[in-house]
Amino acid sequence: MFIYKAGVIGAGAMGSGIAQVISFSGLPVVLKDTDMDRVNKGIDMIRKVYQGRVDKGKMSASEMDQKMKLVIGTTSYDDFKDCDLVIEAVFESMKVKHQVFQDLEKVLPETAIMASNTSALSISQIASAVKRSEKVIGMHFFNPAPVMKLVEVIPGLQTSPETVDDVVAFAESLRKMPVRVKECAGFLVNRLLLPYLNEAAYALQEGSAPAEDMDKAMRAFGMPMGPFALLDMLGLDVCAEVSMILYDSFGPRMKAAEILGEMHKANRLGTKNGIGFYVYDESKKADLKPIVDAIQAKTGVKGTAFSPERLVFQMINEAAYCLEENVASPSDIDLAMLAGTGFPQDKGGPLHLADGIGVDVVLEKLKEFSKTLGPRFWPAPILKRMVAANYLGQKTKKGFFNY
Ligand code: 3HC
Repeated sequence: MFIYKAGVIGAGAMGSGIAQVISFSGLPVVLKDTDMDRVNKGIDMIRKVYQGRVDKGKMSASEMDQKMKLVIGTTSYDDFKDCDLVIEAVFESMKVKHQVFQDLEKVLPETAIMASNTSALSISQIASAVKRSEKVIGMHFFNPAPVMKLVEVIPGLQTSPETVDDVVAFAESLRKMPVRVKECAGFLVNRLLLPYLNEAAYALQEGSAPAEDMDKAMRAFGMPMGPFALLDMLGLDVCAEVSMILYDSFGPRMKAAEILGEMHKANRLGTKNGIGFYVYDESKKADLKPIVDAIQAKTGVKGTAFSPERLVFQMINEAAYCLEENVASPSDIDLAMLAGTGFPQDKGGPLHLADGIGVDVVLEKLKEFSKTLGPRFWPAPILKRMVAANYLGQKTKKGFFNY
């Protein structure tokens, strides 16, 4: 199926980023929100991305004008009536998403695909609200959408194979890298990324090291930005929401560090409102210490050690769980982390990294972390089976990959 015109619902950072990507590929895109103020803010964000390209000499002003003409702002569902594919990017409420999909189904052509950019909600549950559920699919972009190459393609229980193929082809036509992911809470990348970010949050609330030092250490490891700068960019409200969905599905292993909820409660949401772990607006400056002290008084846990392994081994362990559940293949897991989070290319992804370190070493370290930091580090069963069968990684020429 060829997509001649697309739509995006929700003109926030993700929705407008996705609309920019679609217009950049040369397709007309309808961008809808509930009022024209929000729509115009989204269109301004798109213009800013193009203006950046013009300023850098990567595009001419007239090319920018042509691309901007492809973006059609609206508050009405009627403008979707000739769209072949629409991506929903509204906030993470199942109730709201159900309403959006029902409204959308009424106006769209019968053949149109209805995709959701949800970070972690169930695609099958979203699809259950509409009649043409075989046309519903997850199409998950990464922040900032104009830059990050990955698109997770997540079929729900009802999604037809044709819909999956069409969305993979569409993502490729946007010059993105689609990876098919089996449906589970957090899909693939958020399921690996959130435990890593959560571990950084535990380390901070336990006084292991200041946020700046941990960010610096993770940049030295090769991540494009530190965990606290990333939490601030994603928004502490979004992260708290995704953490809850992960906890609901996977239990204590994914229990969110108290500080994430406390930051949300204190309205320290990150870059979007001027204060998160860092201060972006001097007028909002406030000390983080009282929040940390109150958490330490409540939990009694403080003074644990920080190391980059503490964070990265959370990612590796969750990657092993995902592999065990056939969420994606080993190479897709690594590729998704490179393209979706900027995981350092030279380390090849979390599973290649584990093979390089030695699966036996990873297992022992996870057992140690499990004793010293808590059972959230309990090793994925596949790691024990691999070690027992001498799948130790590069040193035995077989691990997650063959060498
Ligand atoms: N919008 C558009 N373009 C942007 C941008 C934005 N918000 N931020 C940066 N860019 C562009 C810059 O203009 C620049 O473009 P150029 O190559 O044409 O000059 C390029 O990206 C690189 O930017 P910078 O030089 O300013 O800075 P960096 O090299 O540090 O890159 C970054 C910035 C791309 C944000 C990088 O730090 C990064 O990859 N960070 C990791 C982000 C990440 O992990 N995202 C995934 C989060 S999980 C998620 O989104 C899922 C959700 O469900 C929660």
